[in-house]
Amino acid sequence: MKLILLGPPGAGKGTVAANVEALGRCHHISTGDLFRQHLRNDTPLGREVRSYMEAGELVPDELTVRLVEARIVQEDGSIEDFVLDGFPRTIPQAEALDELLGRHGTEIAAVILLQVSDEEIVNRLSSRVVCTGCGEVYNLNSKPPQVAGVCDSCGGRLDRRADDSEATVRQRLEGYHRQTEPLIDYYGSRDLLLPVDSSGAPAKTQAKVAQALMELIASRPDLAHS
Ligand code: AP5
Repeated sequence: MKLILLGPPGAGKGTVAANVEALGRCHHISTGDLFRQHLRNDTPLGREVRSYMEAGELVPDELTVRLVEARIVQEDGSIEDFVLDGFPRTIPQAEALDELLGRHGTEIAAVILLQVSDEEIVNRLSSRVVCTGCGEVYNLNSKPPQVAGVCDSCGGRLDRRADDSEATVRQRLEGYHRQTEPLIDYYGSRDLLLPVDSSGAPAKTQAKVAQALMELIASRPDLAHS
């Protein structure tokens, strides 16, 4: 199944992704994670995108579309099943994705839209810490690690993301409202949206996402085998 996770920064896209991956039998692909990997490895692409990411701005569409295309098109030319997290984020990115999928005779099955207020997002991101080793995401309020500063999964060091300062989060939110929110109409007009309230605890949001996906699969049995 080919799915998109849409929602503002800090809505919980990464938090629900593993569940969506299992239910949709697809691979979780986060453009933010892919870019951060390039930053860590100090690749030419990483050097090109660093200033945008640190300022909380979007990376130019052309670079982002190329990154996604290289990731989802397999060696045999087919497109793997995916849940895209953080892509598309602009209308030109969505159009490029449609064009790419159309060329391969496939399409998006659904867009899961996580909804949460800006103030809740600022709160969440000011208490998010991420493992510098395996990337596991924690929250000092809603999902604290067992030992302060240490990852439960791999024992790695926990740190804050460079773009999680309040000023940068507000900049990312402004960018979301201006550049990404138009995608709600873009996909809504094609009846692809599955809106989910993500303001409750993580387990509640996960249960709602699971229910929305199960209902989708029940109404479109072909998707379960696609
Ligand atoms: P990216 O990494 O995609 O950042 P983002 O979209 O801003 O999303 P986040 O990872 O911050 O949040 P999330 O929704 O995954 O929330 P999480 O699950 O961690 O992108 C970073 C940058 O890369 C961009 O700014 C841009 O520069 C560049 N980029 C990436 N894609 C691009 C594109 N397509 N085009 C151009 N540039 C691009 O949860 C957040 C916190 O809240 C965690 O601490 C979590 O534990 C907690 N939490 C989660 N759910 C709940 C809940 N229900 N209740 C309480 N706490 C919760």
